[in-house]
Amino acid sequence: MEYHIRQYGLSQGALEIEYIEEFFGEFPRRKKSAEVVRRLQGRTHQIVMAEAALPDDSATVVPVSFKVSHELRETETDSKLNDLVARLAGCVTFTERRILYSWIGGTRRDWRGQGFFRALTEQQESWALDHGFDEIVVKTKNRFYGMRGTLDHLEFDVILFERDLVDPAESKVYLSKRLCRAVLEGHRSRRDVVNIA
Ligand SMILES: CC(C)(COP(=O)(O)OP(=O)(O)OC[C@H]1O[C@@H](n2cnc3c(N)ncnc32)[C@H](O)[C@@H]1OP(=O)(O)O)[C@@H](O)C(=O)NCCC(=O)NCCS
Repeated sequence: MEYHIRQYGLSQGALEIEYIEEFFGEFPRRKKSAEVVRRLQGRTHQIVMAEAALPDDSATVVPVSFKVSHELRETETDSKLNDLVARLAGCVTFTERRILYSWIGGTRRDWRGQGFFRALTEQQESWALDHGFDEIVVKTKNRFYGMRGTLDHLEFDVILFERDLVDPAESKVYLSKRLCRAVLEGHRSRRDVVNIA
């Protein structure tokens, strides 16, 4: 199977993210385009989406999976990102290295388990290497069992665990993948990538 991937510029990409997020009813805090623009503006970023046909109408193609990532610097002015960098201290080396933070992503329910997220992750890794990144960092929670299982399959390593003493399911898990050209040799997906400004 060949995966059809679109790599978006910021304005169009932010609108596409707002659109696809509406399909993730299980998550109450869905991202709006303004928030995506605020987060990504002024920093190297990537917005990728995979498209596929509707199960009952092969002529209609829709976005089914997405991934948004951005550079994370040692010195951040945004308070959330500053807090994230502080938490990662001792686990991630920022000095003279480029860190890519995998911020949001997912696959619509009807298309899960068909390799879309792997294809986007492989595209992300390939792009990140081309842009001089050394490591990809991602954050999740214990209770997101599907995401944890997926990150395991994609060979992300746990680098930090923040225990929630009240509810263990709310504990935070930080993972990372160090990038080198050999990572590309492990890639399995066949991808057709279109860039949209
Ligand atoms: C997690 C999620 C992104 C996976 O997307 P997907 O397109 O179904 O993933 P893929 O089909 O590309 O699978 C990638 C790999 O992960 C594995 N995988 C997928 N879902 C899994 C699950 N629920 N449990 C364990 N492993 C899983 C696959 O077997 C595959 O491994 P392989 O390529 O070695 O065979 C999707 O289920 C999702 O959007 N979940 C909700 C998002 C979420 O939990 N967000 C929490 C905030 S962090």
